[in-house]
Amino acid sequence: MQKQHISYKELGLVNSRNLFADAVKGGYAIPAYNFNNLEQLQAIVMACVETASPVILQVSKGARKYANQTLLRHLANGAVEYAEELGKSIPIVLHLDHGDTFETCKDCIETGFSSVMIDGSHLSYDENVALTSRVVEYAHQHDVTVEGELGVLAGVEDEVASETHTYTQPEEVEDFVTKTGVDSLAIAIGTSHGAYKFKPGEDPKIRLDILSEIEKRIPGFPIVLHGSSSVPQDLVAIINAHGGKLKDAIGIGEDQLREAAKSAVCKINIDSDGRLAMTAAIRKVLAEKPEEFDPRKYLGPARESLKELYKHKILSVLGSNDKA
Ligand code: G3H
Ligand code: 13P
Ligand code: ZN
Repeated sequence: MQKQHISYKELGLVNSRNLFADAVKGGYAIPAYNFNNLEQLQAIVMACVETASPVILQVSKGARKYANQTLLRHLANGAVEYAEELGKSIPIVLHLDHGDTFETCKDCIETGFSSVMIDGSHLSYDENVALTSRVVEYAHQHDVTVEGELGVLAGVEDEVASETHTYTQPEEVEDFVTKTGVDSLAIAIGTSHGAYKFKPGEDPKIRLDILSEIEKRIPGFPIVLHGSSSVPQDLVAIINAHGGKLKDAIGIGEDQLREAAKSAVCKINIDSDGRLAMTAAIRKVLAEKPEEFDPRKYLGPARESLKELYKHKILSVLGSNDKA
């Protein structure tokens, strides 16, 4: 059977172009929340409807493998209708997070994604330009927006691990965006993936000076921050008080993210904080009510806690409320 091309437009989704243009102008950032399952998606949609925020639903390679890409697409399609049912139609982008090959990006573009990231950050500069340009050329034929990346974040993403940060070099960004035609650029300024972004005793600061240097080179160009979880210490404490073992988990201060969101940073990626919120809620229910075995009894509270976390980010960090 020949594979049918499914356009995101048929699914009621939008690409990120106008959202980013508005966000840069308005001095706020769009939330990019990862999802792998129903409860995460419900929490994201509820939070964004209640705050009237646009949203980027992010799907990683791992998420596609875990949840099945067809089911994820139908969930994203359902999210559009679900938001309306909840009382507000909001712009929803379905985005591939950390696409690693042209083929993965192409496959996503052909199956309903409205935006893709091609992460060539581990390649040489010239290879990154070549791969990113190839994805942009294909994506733009289908009105799909593309995020590229320059610089390497410390930490682990899918199978790729890096011990140290390689900060984005401001002098490369103009050449990169011009040569590739990307719609947005992820940069490395000291954020990293996961719950252990800094070691105890380290100054937990990101390099806002590099960000402003980059902005000077490409004024108004949409910038993306990965690895932007703040690792709320109250959630870490709940996890550890109920059988968890998260030692020395440290994230990015929300005040620094708020600063970044006011600048050309228009997409902020948050996954780990959601994982912490879910885990804390589930551990608490299971520890306090050991007789429970109906998944709805612990996934329900987890969903509620996630929703509150997502709303807090929108209202107090990103500033994307009332922008839908
Ligand atoms: O970049 C990493 C995101 O948090 C996605 O994580 O690859 O484990 O789904 P994942
Ligand atoms: P965190 O691990 O800080 O949540 O970052 C998520 C991310 O960058 C997804 O691409
Ligand atoms: Zn990332």
